[in-house]
Amino acid sequence: SHTHRINIAIDGPAGAGKSTVARKVASALQYVYIDTGAMYRAVTLKVLDSGVPKDDDEAVGRLADGLDIVLLPGGDGQQVRVNGEDVTAKLRSLEINRSVSYVARLSRVRLRMAELQRNMAAGKGVVMDGRDIGTHVLPDAELKVFLTATPRERAKRRFLELEPGTEITLDQLEREIEERDRLDREREIAPLLQAADARLLDSTGMTVDEVAEEIVQWGLAAVRTI
Ligand code: DC
Repeated sequence: SHTHRINIAIDGPAGAGKSTVARKVASALQYVYIDTGAMYRAVTLKVLDSGVPKDDDEAVGRLADGLDIVLLPGGDGQQVRVNGEDVTAKLRSLEINRSVSYVARLSRVRLRMAELQRNMAAGKGVVMDGRDIGTHVLPDAELKVFLTATPRERAKRRFLELEPGTEITLDQLEREIEERDRLDREREIAPLLQAADARLLDSTGMTVDEVAEEIVQWGLAAVRTI
């Protein structure tokens, strides 16, 4: 029923298809989609632009506190605005891919992002994708999914996202994705981890529609138990 809305957390490693799937699930349920990776990418963009060292928690934290990050629903995904500027097109570069896990390790950055994300989810009816949503940001989410796929499949998906002409091989991209997973899993604060009460879904060999449909059915079942 539309009177009862839940929150859905979708976590998993890079390239598992979280954002495409989460967007479809949100659209099917008429919920709001929130891409938390895009928020960490937006902070990273500003860190790289400003020249603040990406391992300086204090300086990066101060920078992050001053960023007004707004996610606007758009036809083909979501627009990301930082202090009023549309930065959406700049967030998927190799440079940001390579730096974002370092910025996302910092405690002040994570505190600030989690605060913004909890505010966004306060009214329920969100599908939020990330690394620590089920474990940390929304521990009370009514449905938690941990979405995975093999490293090769994930590399192929990320390969298709890169700008045409980007100089990188699939093998190299697979190695970079595995390195990023390692950094995300081994970091001290809110690491990438399947929540104890999350459902594991391996999307290898499944279409986006099949994965989204499975999660929608789980979501509808969760709504019925409220
Ligand atoms: O999903 P993505 O590839 O856009 O995420 C980019 C990076 O941001 C990822 O390597 C780790 C970080 N991240 C995070 O630490 N916590 C989240 N909730 C989402 C992303």
